[in-house]
Formats: sequence, C-alpha cells, structure tokens
Amino acid sequence: MSTWLSEAALEEIARERRKYPPEQARSALLAALRIAQEEHGYLPEALIEHVADLLGVPAIQAFEVATFYTMYDLQPVGKHQFCVCGSVSCFLNGSDAILAHLQQRLGIGIGETTADGLFTIKEVECLGACKDAPMMQLGDRYIENLTPEKIDALIAQLRQEVQR
Ligand code: FES
Repeated sequence: MSTWLSEAALEEIARERRKYPPEQARSALLAALRIAQEEHGYLPEALIEHVADLLGVPAIQAFEVATFYTMYDLQPVGKHQFCVCGSVSCFLNGSDAILAHLQQRLGIGIGETTADGLFTIKEVECLGACKDAPMMQLGDRYIENLTPEKIDALIAQLRQEVQR
C-alpha cells in the first residue's frame, strides 16, 4: 500500500525493477522516478525517498538521479513546460533571445511558473535536434527553428485550448 502511488504505478515500477538483476536495482531509478512524476506531477523529497524504498536502494542514489536530470521536476510545474535547449548549437543560433522573449511574454523567469499554473520555462541541455536550432521540447513534441513569432503563436494557441 502506497500513499503516493496508485496500484498501476506500483506495478509499472515493479515491472521496471524486474528488468535488472537484484544487485542492479538502481538501474531502474530513471524509469521509476519518471513513473512517479507522471502520476504525481512532480517529485517532492518524500516521494523520491518512497521510490528509493520501493526499489530497495539508498535514498541518496534516488536524489542523485532526480537532481541531475532536467526532466525531473522537484517542485510543482505548469501544465505546459517550455524546455528551451541552451547548449552550444542552440546558443549559437539564438536560444538566449528565445529565452528572453519567453520570459518577457510570460512575465516569469527561467525555472518559474505563471500564476495561472499554465506555463513553466526551463533551460535544458542538448536534446539532440541541433541541426534545427534553436529548439525546445514541449510535452512530447520538439519545436524547432524557433523564432519569437513562433513562440507568440504557440502561447496564443495553448491559451486558447485552455479556454475551450
Ligand atoms: S544544442 Fe540544442 S538540440 Fe543540441
């Protein structure tokens, strides 16, 4: 019985755990933390500790993973996360200007969420779409060759979707 996770999530974590030999439980941490985050929305400390308990690994190992990768959210985030790549190709092609535009349009800084809970801005490392820099990830989509106009259209579209 878990106060944090549903039976389905627990089963999914157990399935990930079984993919590895007993002494390699930490290998399931990436997947288990993703599953926990998908269910809870973000990863508070107590949930990270819970995931470590489920896998039978020291909590410090779970914290190391959760705090290293930008895909894990340690605090509540917006419904839509603009994850703008700030690595070299994107940087050379204007990711700074894209980030500045986003911050100005949404009135928040990097790592912050709008008051209506709709948008969060994140700066992330290379997402492997360098030839179409600058780019960002939004949910499970990559949005490439970013321009301020593209950003504006996207924000307007996402706001409209909420109003429907
Ligand atoms: S540098 Fe931005 S996707 Fe690779």
